Amino acid sequence: MTPEAFRLAGHQLIDWIADYRDSIDQRPVRAQVEPGQVRSKLPQSPPGQCDAFDRVIADLEGIVVPGITQVQHPMHFGWFPSNASLASILGDIASSGLGTLGISWESCPALTEVEEITVDWMRQLTGLSEAWKGTIHDTASTACLTALIAARERASNFCLNDSGLQGLSSPLVVYASGEAHSAVEEAALLAGCGRENLRIIAVDPISRSMQADALAGAVELDLAEGRTPAAIVASIGSTGVTAFDPLDKIIGIAQKHGIWVHVDAAMAGTAMLLPECRHLWEGVEGADSISWNPHKWMGTILDTSLFYVRDPQHLIRVMSTNPSYLQSDVDEQVVQYRDWGIPLGRRFRALKLWFHLRLDGVDAIRARIRRDLENAAWLAAQIQAGENWQLLAPLTLQTVCVRHDPGNLDGDELDRHTLRWVGQINQSGAAFMSPAKLDGRWMVRVSVGVESTERHHLEALWSLMQETADKGQTSR
Ligand SMILES: Cc1ncc(COP(=O)(O)O)c(C=O)c1O
Repeated sequence: MTPEAFRLAGHQLIDWIADYRDSIDQRPVRAQVEPGQVRSKLPQSPPGQCDAFDRVIADLEGIVVPGITQVQHPMHFGWFPSNASLASILGDIASSGLGTLGISWESCPALTEVEEITVDWMRQLTGLSEAWKGTIHDTASTACLTALIAARERASNFCLNDSGLQGLSSPLVVYASGEAHSAVEEAALLAGCGRENLRIIAVDPISRSMQADALAGAVELDLAEGRTPAAIVASIGSTGVTAFDPLDKIIGIAQKHGIWVHVDAAMAGTAMLLPECRHLWEGVEGADSISWNPHKWMGTILDTSLFYVRDPQHLIRVMSTNPSYLQSDVDEQVVQYRDWGIPLGRRFRALKLWFHLRLDGVDAIRARIRRDLENAAWLAAQIQAGENWQLLAPLTLQTVCVRHDPGNLDGDELDRHTLRWVGQINQSGAAFMSPAKLDGRWMVRVSVGVESTERHHLEALWSLMQETADKGQTSR
């Protein structure tokens, strides 16, 4: 494709995206396809000849779009907000258009230095001290794995330099609450700790926060039995009910025994843009690493996951490879982000954040987050006042956990009732919410925070929930 052809197609594509985003609320929220339906519409062998751009756009509209669950739709309340602000999309296009190669400072000095600055802007905007240095990973899962590998090497005095974990006489133990994201378990297993050495710490039955006493007890027991506590992952805004572990207490326990603390604030990190929310991670300065995803609620398009450490030299010592072909005579003066994580090559991800912050502005982003908090509080109040409706967990940010309980159903019947009414709404395409289990019983999570969701969307959702659940009750 020549630059001139690119210009023509690019204008057409931008127009198409703008129209698509402008009219997204006319579409069903949930993808309207059966398994295999998208695949069946695509040719089974690759094209030999080039195709016309109009035909590609037609297939985007006719084949791809029906196969998308519209997480940018204002009636999307599923999983978590996964906002893709148009400002950050421009940054993504700029990143792709520049076609840079991020394997060393030398291969693209601007990539490294824009990342250093934007990550530091985010540090300032969330009230973290200058002690933190950061980078951008693809996801919080990668960040958590990186943190646990760094923790493993600190606890084992760099076992990777000799026999690795296989040479250790004392197993390394990782601690997290039962509310922690599955990425934590995955990271602990991939870091080599083994399921037997992953301690799931009990949570408070109401707040779902990790019980600090139970953590202290588990650590003491492991020490007494000859194991080495290596890392604690604190969930700051858990996925299920947005629970907050007591970070200051956790850090007190960790510091007594030299245990690494990783803070997983993947979704809730966005709230730390608001000074009034920062009490929720009180004590964070005592942690060793933090990750959170601007690609969730804040709205910098995937994949933009911030990862901060207090001791970059330790991380570099663990992650650095430094083959001769990548060495240069400025190595002592510059940051080499390949030494901060697993991949060598990296995209110019910082442009997404840079564009987002510059074009939308922090004041507007903060105002939107406050709006979402108010909208979630409004819905929670309706539920608390509603007949037969229960708010199942304290509302800390924007995730409203709800059940409709007509009072005449046993446990299994109530589960079927819950799945029926939420399933009907999701299938209708009018709105989308996530059913999830709490204490072994189904509930519904309403995750508020899509960029275009306003109060009237919450009002429409609440009416829909009442109508559907009431109808389900009579037709049981
Ligand atoms: C608390 C928490 N941690 C980790 C993750 C995983 O995030 P990612 O998809 O960036 O790996 C999520 C995603 O929902 C999350 O809510």
